Amino acid sequence: MQVVETLSSKKIVILGTGGTIAGQSALRDDNINYLAAQVDISTLTASVQGLAAHVAGFDLVTEQVAQVDSKDMDEKVWCRLAQRTANALAQPDVHAVVITHGTDTIEETAFFLQSVLPANKPVVLTCAMRPSTALNPDGPQNLRDALSVAMDPHAEGVVVVCAGLVHTAQHVQKIHPYRLDAFSSGDAGPVGSVENARVRWTVLPLPCTPPAWQASGLSVDQPWPQVEIVLNHAGATGAVVQALMHAGVQGLVVAGTGNGTLSQPLTRALQLAMASGVQVLRSTRCAFGQVMAESDALIPVAQGLSPVKARVALQLSLLGLAAAKASNPKN
Ligand code: SIN
Repeated sequence: MQVVETLSSKKIVILGTGGTIAGQSALRDDNINYLAAQVDISTLTASVQGLAAHVAGFDLVTEQVAQVDSKDMDEKVWCRLAQRTANALAQPDVHAVVITHGTDTIEETAFFLQSVLPANKPVVLTCAMRPSTALNPDGPQNLRDALSVAMDPHAEGVVVVCAGLVHTAQHVQKIHPYRLDAFSSGDAGPVGSVENARVRWTVLPLPCTPPAWQASGLSVDQPWPQVEIVLNHAGATGAVVQALMHAGVQGLVVAGTGNGTLSQPLTRALQLAMASGVQVLRSTRCAFGQVMAESDALIPVAQGLSPVKARVALQLSLLGLAAAKASNPKN
């Protein structure tokens, strides 16, 4: 852990988890062939010019929680990250937490953290599309912007900052594999922007969702329920559902076509899965909008959540059911 001291009693904790923001490439002009998660968080923070002046009035405390390419993010790292974040937020002298993360699954981590953390202080996730060694890396600017948001008096709850925009955990989605501005909040739009270190909010107060689960109730060693995502597409047969049932899946999220529609064979396979106790949630593979439940819907709808976030919600709900059963075995 490293502390950048600025004669202040207020702290911002920066937790590093890896990603392209901490990536390194052999060639400075190569933004594709690089290794993510190489540079430790204290080196990364120290490399941002003028950061101590930018956060005048706050001490920065860095901590490496993980060092992963976020395509490999998993529930163990999530538990550790939630616990380290909750621990920091509980300290009276900590004003906010900033988390550096890969872009590929930042939306799932943000949604997970929002589901388990109190919304009373800002938790700002940030990332980069270019490795730290690039000719013109975007990580330093994104980290500065994330700190601007973390210091802003209106910030609260979990948000994602990238390319000068502030997105809520609920709506943020990666929509481009290469552009610096790789994120969208769909129909909802971003809640603010960061312009030359000043935050301009377009939505206030920020919509904060009360946590459905407590970070303190999560254990790194606890096995999480297996929840997989299946897709409806032309010619979808339902064979994937049968294979997943054989594999012992406990929950399924189905990314339907359009308004969450499913082929007849896939519907039948999912109904059989539900009848044998597998919990199923229906979302849409459309990038924008949300499924509007039909009055005779047989498969419950994931309330406005994308398939990857619905998966997290279903995992947490199954964990909650398991915890309730364990505390009252008569259930
Ligand atoms: C990752 O998600 O860790 C790699 C890709 C990125 O951060 O852009």
